Amino acid sequence: MLVRCLYASRPEKPMTSALTHEILKQSCHNNPGRGITGLLCYTSEIFVQVIEGSRDDICNLFNAIVRDERNKDVCLLVYEEIKERHFGSWTMGQVKLDGVNPGVMLKYYEKAEFNPFNAPGHATMSILMELVATGAIVSHVGA
Ligand SMILES: Cc1cc2nc3c(=O)[nH]c(=O)nc-3n(C[C@H](O)[C@H](O)[C@H](O)COP(=O)(O)O)c2cc1C
Repeated sequence: MLVRCLYASRPEKPMTSALTHEILKQSCHNNPGRGITGLLCYTSEIFVQVIEGSRDDICNLFNAIVRDERNKDVCLLVYEEIKERHFGSWTMGQVKLDGVNPGVMLKYYEKAEFNPFNAPGHATMSILMELVATGAIVSHVGA
């Protein structure tokens, strides 16, 4: 059974490229063997990640992320059983959202500012889908 999970969290310490690199390295090491795919998006203050895979694997990973001391305030935005993956091309794609066209935010949010903690989960999911459609995803080196 395939599921998709979208959550937002905040970094425990200031966001650095070393931190995102370390997380993406772990993801690219662990996810392929578990059949987990998805996207990790971040700003200087927020992580948003969508993960897809078997229910057991996604629940285990989500629990690990909630316990991971590198982030806090983990908020589950969407959990759904799915028939097919939307993010199947990425072991863990990455998008630095600071560089994304504000028009993409405005299409789905009330304001052109990325704030998944105050928006419906499906609006944030739509933004991620739009990033896929517009080719904004960067694959982690070595993925
Ligand atoms: C925002 C965030 C996203 C993460 N995403 C993943 C992921 O997609 N896959 C993964 O294996 N670990 C991910 N992690 C790391 C896990 O919390 C955990 O540290 C890791 O899975 C443990 O792997 P290990 O047993 O190989 O050390 C993420 C951590 C954070 C803070």
